[in-house]
Amino acid sequence: MPGLAIVGAQWGDEGKGKVTDLLAERADAIVRFQGGNNAGHTIVRDGEEFKFHLIPSGILYPDKACVIGNGVVLDPRILLGEIDGLRRRGVDVGNLKISANAHLIMPYHVLLDTAGEIKLGKLSIGTTRRGIGPCYADKALRLGIRVQDLLDEKILRTKIRAALEPKQQALRELSVQRRKLRKEAGEGEREGAEEAYEAAPDPRLDLHAMTEEHVNYGHRLEPHIADTARLCWEKLDAGRTVIFEGAQATLLDLDHGTYPFVTSSNPIAGAATVGAGIAPSDIEEVWGVAKAYATRVGAGPFPTELEGEAGRHMVEKGHEFGTTTGRERRCGWMDLVALRYAVRINGMTSLAITKLDVLSGLDPLRVAVRYRSREGAQLDRFPYHQSILHSATPEYEELPGFDADISECRSEADLPRQARDYLDFVADFVGVPIELVGVGPGREQVVWRD
Ligand code: IMP
Repeated sequence: MPGLAIVGAQWGDEGKGKVTDLLAERADAIVRFQGGNNAGHTIVRDGEEFKFHLIPSGILYPDKACVIGNGVVLDPRILLGEIDGLRRRGVDVGNLKISANAHLIMPYHVLLDTAGEIKLGKLSIGTTRRGIGPCYADKALRLGIRVQDLLDEKILRTKIRAALEPKQQALRELSVQRRKLRKEAGEGEREGAEEAYEAAPDPRLDLHAMTEEHVNYGHRLEPHIADTARLCWEKLDAGRTVIFEGAQATLLDLDHGTYPFVTSSNPIAGAATVGAGIAPSDIEEVWGVAKAYATRVGAGPFPTELEGEAGRHMVEKGHEFGTTTGRERRCGWMDLVALRYAVRINGMTSLAITKLDVLSGLDPLRVAVRYRSREGAQLDRFPYHQSILHSATPEYEELPGFDADISECRSEADLPRQARDYLDFVADFVGVPIELVGVGPGREQVVWRD
C-alpha cells in the first residue's frame, strides 16, 4: 500500500466489484481508470442489490472519494441515470469526482458501434454496443469531446460540429451498404420504409439539440468535476490507500488480449498510471480477480470452453448472464496458462478467486496446464500468435471435486479438503498467493486466507 490496483485476470465478469468493495474498507479513494458503461458490477449489501456500470464500487462508503479517472469513457446520460438511481435509494453521491479530462461517449458513438458490428457480420466482435470503440477512436484522432467541454457551450458546439461531420458520412455509407446486403438477401419488401427513414435527418444527430442536451448534462455534473489526478497524489503522498479499479480484464486488453476480440482500452494494471494520472511507483500491490472457472462474453478464442453438461452447470449455478447486455456467458474450465500470463503482465501480488461455490457438484475438476498446437507442439506459455491460440487445445490436470454446499464457509478450515487442494494447486501453479475466496454473491460470503 498505498496504491493498490485491482484487475480482471480472465475475460471479465470475475467479480471485481465485490473484491473492490471489500478492499475499499481499507482505502481512502477508489478510482476507475479505463472502460465505460460496457462494464457492469453488482454489489449485494445487507440483502440489497446495487448494479453499476460507471460509478466505482466505493460509492456505498460515504467517507471515501469515488473517482472516475481521465482514462474512462463516460456516457453522461448513463452516469446521470446512476446518480439519480442512487439518490432515490438514499445514497449520498457528494463524494463522486469526475476527471475533467475523461472523454464523453456521444450518441453518434453508440450508433457507430452498432453499425460497425452489423457491417462486420460473421466477423463481429460482439461488443456491448455502448459506443466504447468509436469513442476511444475519436480520442486517438483528437476529435473527442471531454467532460470539461460541457462547461463551455461555444467550445462544445464547435467540437461537436467537427466530430459530427465524418460520423454522418460514415453512418450514411454504412446504411447504404446495409440496404444492399438486405436486397441481396431478398428482403426487398422492407426497403421502401427503410429508405424513407434513412433519408430523413436523424434527430439523434442534430448539432443544436445535441449541444443543448449536453450543456444541461454539464450543469448537472459540474459539482462533481475535479482535478482527479491531483486528488490521487494528495492522498498517496499523505500515505493513504487508493484503489485503482480496472474494468473488463487482461485478456480483453487492447494490446495484450486476444485482439481483435478485445475492448478498446487497456484493463491491465500498468494502464492505471495513464488512466488515473499517477506514477508507476505509486502502485505497490496488484490484486488479480479470477473466477474458479472461466467465462467469456462476445466472440473470440476461449481454449477451455465447455459445451456439455459441466458448462451448463456453470451457466445455471453461476447465473452466467451479463450485467450489461443480459447475454449468456460462455463457460469453461479454469485456464492456468492464461492465468499465469495475466499474473506476469499485471505483476500480481495477490489473487482473489470468486465463485468457488459454483464448482460444488462437479467431479472431477479440471484446470488447463498447457496447450497443444494443431501441429502437436506443447505450448506452456500463452501464445502471442492469434492463429495458434485459435486452434490450440488445452491439456488438463484433473483434481478431485467436492459436493458440499460451501456458501456458509467463512474460514479456510470450513472448506472441504478438495476445495483447499484446488486453491493450492492454482496458487502453486501461477506463483501468487490466493488471499480471498468468494463462496456466494453476498458481501459476507468470503473466506480470507492467512
Ligand atoms: P466493447 O468493450 O463493448 O467494445 O466490447 C468488446 C469486447 O469486450 C466484447 O467481447 C465484449 O463482450 C467484451 N466486454 C466489454 N466489457 C465487458 C465486461 O465488462 N465484461 C465482459 N466482457 C466485456
